[in-house]
Amino acid sequence: MNSKKESLPLLGGLTPTQFLAEYWQKKPLLIKNAIPNFAGLLSPDELAGLACEEYVQSRIVEYKKGKWHASHGPFSDVDFSKLPEQPTKDHHWTLLVQSVNHYLPEATALLQQFDFIPHARLDDLMVSYAPDGGGVGPHFDSYDVFLLQGQGKRLWRISDQSDLSLIEGAPLRILQNFDTSQEWLLEAGDMLYLPPHLAHWGIAVSDGATDCMTYSIGFRAPKNQELATEFLGFMQDKLNQDQLVLDGIYQDADLTLQNHPAEISSAMISKVSAILQKIQWSKYDVAEFLGTYLSDPKADVVFEPNKKISMRAFNEKLIKLGIALDLKSQMLFETNCFYLNGEAAKFTGDSAEILKKLADNRHLKPNDISSNGHLHKEIDAQLLQQIHDWYIAGYLHFKM
Ligand code: SIN
Ligand code: CO
Repeated sequence: MNSKKESLPLLGGLTPTQFLAEYWQKKPLLIKNAIPNFAGLLSPDELAGLACEEYVQSRIVEYKKGKWHASHGPFSDVDFSKLPEQPTKDHHWTLLVQSVNHYLPEATALLQQFDFIPHARLDDLMVSYAPDGGGVGPHFDSYDVFLLQGQGKRLWRISDQSDLSLIEGAPLRILQNFDTSQEWLLEAGDMLYLPPHLAHWGIAVSDGATDCMTYSIGFRAPKNQELATEFLGFMQDKLNQDQLVLDGIYQDADLTLQNHPAEISSAMISKVSAILQKIQWSKYDVAEFLGTYLSDPKADVVFEPNKKISMRAFNEKLIKLGIALDLKSQMLFETNCFYLNGEAAKFTGDSAEILKKLADNRHLKPNDISSNGHLHKEIDAQLLQQIHDWYIAGYLHFKM
């Protein structure tokens, strides 16, 4: 985990505390040589290969004869063969692949360098590839992003414009107008942080030999409306499962004669308001909601269960290899409640400390959990059973 007081080359020499206070959600920051000698994590061919896989979210954005086009993967060789080999100012394209951290351990390791932002706010690593001129056009995003340059170069333009009107009917969000206020040419290892809603435009610059690849470390921030909808669904589940009980039945021994039998009286409305006001929640309910909701996998995420293994064999492997979260797993915690891929578990004391380490670091090394060939005493039978269950579900794997 990052120390908040240590100055980081990744942040151009700022400490995480300084970055959070001065830039996060506030203003852009250009960091030259944020990751020295960063050559990228995968080749254009490997990225195209990912875009051909069924469960991988990918897009090709093409600009052709003054119009933007977007198509969604999975793609095939035929789709790629239709794209211009020699892009021009009037016809260029880019490929974008979402959640590369779900497929590449190196991508998860890259995201871990951004640990100064809570895991609950992290979304994914998107990687783009574009020959000369390619990009997704002038736009703004609703979320914070670090744009790290891999191979090749990209010209980034940003604008302090307040006019964020979009071209109507375009298949992607393109700004109608763009007034450049600053621009930089980013080279491998350079990085640009952008706060939400800042207009930007990245244009691939290629010498023909090395095309542009950009790594977007993207964050998530639920809309208030979405939080409310999801929370009310969570509360409804509590009612359905009798974890929240409103005793009694509507009573009106004080009923008086109404002029209109069809009218809903104000007395009835007051009584029902009083009943509904008994639906209350504590910060523990909100914590449980956040833990399950924010660790819940996206709809396209599938876990491959691990083969059944005896508890004895499981122990032996655990001692020898340690254990790690699956690349797609999201683990969060609050006090003694642990949330893994939308499921909750409670642990206290030393067991909780072990699980906090697993959640923060995404793995437990053999010496985090054992010494001299024996599991530490804090891995009691209940914790061992839980780790085993998560392993069988495919949420954890032995660390190699
Ligand atoms: C990209 O084209 O790689 C970055 C997209 C963006 O501007 O968010
Ligand atoms: Co953007």
